[in-house]
Amino acid sequence: SMQLELKNLILRAGDQLKVKGTILHDAERFQIDLGCGADDLALHFNPRFQDDTDGAVLICNSKIAGCWGDEKREIHNPLQRGTDVKLVLKLGGDVFKVELPDGQEVQFPNRDNMDVISYIKIAGDFKLTSFKIC
Ligand code: GAL
Repeated sequence: SMQLELKNLILRAGDQLKVKGTILHDAERFQIDLGCGADDLALHFNPRFQDDTDGAVLICNSKIAGCWGDEKREIHNPLQRGTDVKLVLKLGGDVFKVELPDGQEVQFPNRDNMDVISYIKIAGDFKLTSFKIC
């Protein structure tokens, strides 16, 4: 289910997104997408809780002209179903960083060198309670 979709934004290196919400108690997955449209994502941040291969895992990927890139899988997933979480997404220019509730950071390169993020989507098994651009 869609939680948020924003278009026509102008976000650049140095900008941060603070996302708060509750992970549903029966969550399979949710996602936070940053890009310039649904088919062009610089960052698809996709926590999964029952992935076929890895169980609980943090997936990152990019999508260029509708085609997924190579997935990056972070087996450390401190996110827990049924809990309130705050995630901070940092636009670094060359890299995206996602600060997790335990203080660790997931990093993902800006593969296509997208210097303006104009599109955000938050969707999946997550109830969004607060969203800020800082
Ligand atoms: C696919 C999945 C997409 C996206 C992608 C990331 O298997 O269907 O929703 O998560 O992986 O690589």
